[in-house]
Amino acid sequence: MENKRGGWGSKIAFIFAAAGSAVGLGNIWRFPYQTGMNGGAAFVFVYLLAAFLIGLVVFLAEVSMGRRTKKNPVGAFKQLKPNSPWFLVGILGVFTAVMILSYYGVIAGWTVGYAFKALKGDFSQKLTESMVQNMFAGFSSNIGLNLILFSVFILMTVLVVSFGIKGGIEKLTKVLMPLLFLILIYLAAKAVLFEGAAKGLSFYLKPDFSKINSKVILFAITQAFFSLSLGMGTIMTYGSYISDEDFLPSSALWVVSLDTVVAIMAGLVIFPTLFTIPGMSPQQGPALVFIVLPVVFSKIPGGAFFGFLFFLLLVIAALTSTISLLEVPVAYLIDEKKWRRKKAALVVGMLAFMAGIPSILANVKGSYFSKLPLVKEDFLTLMDFLWGNLSLIFGGLLITIFVAYVWGADSAVKEITKNGRKFKFAGIWKLFIKYIVPAILFVILLSRIV
Ligand code: PFF
Repeated sequence: MENKRGGWGSKIAFIFAAAGSAVGLGNIWRFPYQTGMNGGAAFVFVYLLAAFLIGLVVFLAEVSMGRRTKKNPVGAFKQLKPNSPWFLVGILGVFTAVMILSYYGVIAGWTVGYAFKALKGDFSQKLTESMVQNMFAGFSSNIGLNLILFSVFILMTVLVVSFGIKGGIEKLTKVLMPLLFLILIYLAAKAVLFEGAAKGLSFYLKPDFSKINSKVILFAITQAFFSLSLGMGTIMTYGSYISDEDFLPSSALWVVSLDTVVAIMAGLVIFPTLFTIPGMSPQQGPALVFIVLPVVFSKIPGGAFFGFLFFLLLVIAALTSTISLLEVPVAYLIDEKKWRRKKAALVVGMLAFMAGIPSILANVKGSYFSKLPLVKEDFLTLMDFLWGNLSLIFGGLLITIFVAYVWGADSAVKEITKNGRKFKFAGIWKLFIKYIVPAILFVILLSRIV
């Protein structure tokens, strides 16, 4: 079924597109370094629970709202609860999308730069850690180069979104997602066979449950929200293009599973590779992918090609996520402000570009944005905390409360069971959306603010 807003051509088209949104830098860059810093396999274990017990529940809430209203997040809240301030949650989502796009696009630009570096053979000479550290510092503080890479990324994103749901996003994700899986399977298969891989595998897969503490739980849940693109209406927007024939719980389960599989596989590439080099620590933080891996690539046979494929994988993953970020404000401007799609994509793309410039300057040593007064953090880190963490948890909490008590959990179940579908887990889902998920998100939000 299609109205004039456009819609996915098939059930699988939504799954590819939503998995494209979910699978991104969050899976391949953020998940491994979070795992490295938070106790390895124990973090992986908590993450799995967070993704399937909390993420899946919220995911289903968002797609139900999207499909019920067939609108952008602002329009969706307005339609389900007219003349109330609830539409502000949608506005927050639209704003969050632009803000995440602004810094995420900068990191996405790095992946393009590093793919070129690998291609040029920069990782084929023997590199030491300090050499790569200098390489990264030089690269990320090169303002001109970063402006070019960032604008290339935003332009690609604008182009795809301009072509619309079927002609742009669906077409691209249908090709890129299978390609991403192929590359990932190849890399993981190679990595687990490296000599010395066993050490990495055991760090990554053999949980030491004594390492689970409140910090691990907090980071795992936040990671699940970011990784599944939840809490800001992206999944709601993609859900608004789903046909009434599709069974939402099975689509949701597919997307959450694919996203989780990719995160787990990214770890399978990174940890065995990492531990082949003696003395390499998994606790490197955000630099893990850009600093540690090039050293490793330079030392393993065929590493240059391996490295190129790895960064190409990151480029693909990031692009299918940035288009989903741009689609949120674009859908809002089309539905609510009657803008043309192309104009909306271009204008918002330009806004995100301008908002991203301080995130580029954040890596220039000595610049104002590299160490903000008061917070003593750099601008990019601050943006990730505010929009990629706080806003998603806050938005997720409000969406959960809205679906459970304002629109009503029963109304949501009615949408899910449309066309005589049977939803076996309706009872459990209602229990989670009404009590368990909001309680957990509330506690997380409090501890995040404190
Ligand atoms: N899920 C993406 C990732 O894991 O990289 C990031 C993201 C995309 C977050 C879209 C939020 C969003 F709306």
